[in-house]
Amino acid sequence: GYTAWSFLDNFEWIIGYSVANTLNTRAFPDDFMFGVATAAYQVEGGWNADGKGENIWDYITHKDPTFISTGENADVACDTYNKWKEDVELLKDLGVNHYRFSISWPRVLPTGYANMLLINKINEPGIAYYKNLITALKENNIEPVVTLYHWDLPQHLQELGGWPNPKIADYFADYARLAFREFGEDVKYWTTFNEPKQICQFGYGTGLFAPGISTSGVGDYLCVRTVLLAHAKAYHIYDEEFREKQNGLMSIVLDTSWAEPVSNRTEDVEAADRRLQFAFGIFGNPIYNGNWPQVVIDRVGFRSENENFTESRLPEFTDEEIEYVKDTYDFVGLNSYTTELVRDVSEEVFGEPTFDKDLRVQSLTDPSWNTTSYGWAIVPWGQRKLLKWVKDTYNNPKILVTENGCSDDGTTLEDEIRISYYTEYLSAVLDAIYEDEVDVIGYTGWSFMDNFEWISGYSQHFGMYHVNFTDDDRPRTPKKSVDFYKKIIASHCLSD
Ligand code: NOJ
Repeated sequence: GYTAWSFLDNFEWIIGYSVANTLNTRAFPDDFMFGVATAAYQVEGGWNADGKGENIWDYITHKDPTFISTGENADVACDTYNKWKEDVELLKDLGVNHYRFSISWPRVLPTGYANMLLINKINEPGIAYYKNLITALKENNIEPVVTLYHWDLPQHLQELGGWPNPKIADYFADYARLAFREFGEDVKYWTTFNEPKQICQFGYGTGLFAPGISTSGVGDYLCVRTVLLAHAKAYHIYDEEFREKQNGLMSIVLDTSWAEPVSNRTEDVEAADRRLQFAFGIFGNPIYNGNWPQVVIDRVGFRSENENFTESRLPEFTDEEIEYVKDTYDFVGLNSYTTELVRDVSEEVFGEPTFDKDLRVQSLTDPSWNTTSYGWAIVPWGQRKLLKWVKDTYNNPKILVTENGCSDDGTTLEDEIRISYYTEYLSAVLDAIYEDEVDVIGYTGWSFMDNFEWISGYSQHFGMYHVNFTDDDRPRTPKKSVDFYKKIIASHCLSD
């Protein structure tokens, strides 16, 4: 346990009442959940262990090592594939209520699906790995919060076109059914996709992320549509086949920075809202409200007047599909790290239309803002405004903060920057709960341990635990933030 001194300002012995000896201590709601997160490709390693299939990041990092700025890959990463028992002990020591992790699709289905062909089968050691992990978590009273897809598509499915191909939604649905069947007894919190904006915009728009396909303004929107239908299929499968017995909650994890208009000019205010709609609403509106956001329809869904080009670039939903996707959530999973100042650039002339060019905003930063080693601005009030915006835009849903955190350069275990980031952002969450009456049910720090930060390799350290990536055994060492988070969890209070 942990006891904060003091409840009230009081007589501080020989210095009398001269100091306020209360910490400004504020309690979280009783059932508020605290957790930490990771994702399969970023931590597991064992990239081809025990029958695991190749995913798009395995494929691209092996084929082109320059794809990652540091030339690294996640073949071994934190080796949680072998060290999961030790990690559950660390989680237990931290005292978290939940652990958010993802299942590697090709670890359980090496080619992405199972059928009568001998090569397309379920990989039993993969199933056993997640069963063991989930059982160990439950034995230690840690609730698994499981993501089905954190960016690691089976390469086999990429060869069929990946997410722009609508057929992938059916394979995803089968994979989701398998996961519910195998693990659902012990999983009460499911999310389908993590940050689908990155999957589509970076994977198939700019090509910055695997599979590295650049079809900006076309493939990215096709991807969004497939992902939305895949999510909805998984939700309905859960609802119809598993919910009654398993009684869990199901969602998707969406992300955005908060967008603050750079001025109070109407154009900039509208641009900031447009930024949120293109980043968050493009998935959030179909799921929470129904259909694409109007501003996306206006800017991408129009048809050319040139009779040779009658197709809009925004793939349409039929009325049945709009209904099928709508309301497929039990809570909102929200990832957010930073805030941008947004300026309207609608009038400026660009080249070819792309996701970004459709949006037509310029993102700026305030030079007075402190930044993390990633260069991300630390703006806790943005987190509060974003939570309020989600509440107001999507009918006051339950919100689980599924990621929030801060990277540093990894040179010290005395990670004061992370402690102050968490303090300020958790304080903003409390303001959202108590001042703005946002229904935030929990908070998840990114990340449990240092890990593979996608195209930045191991150069950004988000972990509460340090991992030594040059030692074959990948030893973990707690940073100062471990002790800090432990106290918050044990006391259920924040002291600013
Ligand atoms: C978003 C992603 O979900 C996660 O994979 C990534 O490492 C963190 N944010 C930090 O960039």
